[in-house]
Amino acid sequence: MTVLVAYGSTGGSTAEIAGWIAEEFRAAGLDVRLLPADEVDDVAGYDALVLGAAMYAAGWHPDARRFAKRFAGPFADRPVWLFSSGPLDHTADDTDLPPDHQAEAAMHLLQAREHVTFGGRLTAEAHGWLGFVARRMKHEGHTGDFRDPQRIRAWARGVAAEITSPRRQA
Ligand SMILES: Cc1cc2nc3c(=O)[nH]c(=O)nc-3n(C[C@H](O)[C@H](O)[C@H](O)COP(=O)(O)O)c2cc1C
Repeated sequence: MTVLVAYGSTGGSTAEIAGWIAEEFRAAGLDVRLLPADEVDDVAGYDALVLGAAMYAAGWHPDARRFAKRFAGPFADRPVWLFSSGPLDHTADDTDLPPDHQAEAAMHLLQAREHVTFGGRLTAEAHGWLGFVARRMKHEGHTGDFRDPQRIRAWARGVAAEITSPRRQA
């Protein structure tokens, strides 16, 4: 079984989440390709997809949005999971945050089984304009790393179990 883990990320934290998910998939015996969503040209040969996106003011990361539009057809008969990463507080872990309207559109396009929201990261060490924003937001107390690797890895193990479940292939 080969799984594609694709992501839209500007500051790298969503890419890192995708990497943790890929690690859990490999530990579960799956073949994994981990790629930025805008570098995927061909989706032939994948048995399942995980697509993740950072959330910005304009919504779901544009690379992930474009991916969902480009590859909606090919994944119609393959299982798909989506995740968003964004909230710079603990709300994503404390409550079940629903997809924003763009993530919801991607869910429809890709007929995703599930969407989950994970916390995000924004720190003053960020590069370029992100660092500038972070240094400004720091005064308002909205910076930090709110990702929970244990929760993310546990979610990935659950997805891996579904992908490898014999029931699915029956
Ligand atoms: C300018 C800006 C706008 C943001 N807007 C949102 C938002 O609307 N909703 C949200 O949940 N997170 C928002 N975030 C937080 C990011 O989603 C979070 O920092 C995320 O981890 C970034 O992922 P990346 O490092 O992969 O780009 C925003 C961050 C910045 C810098």
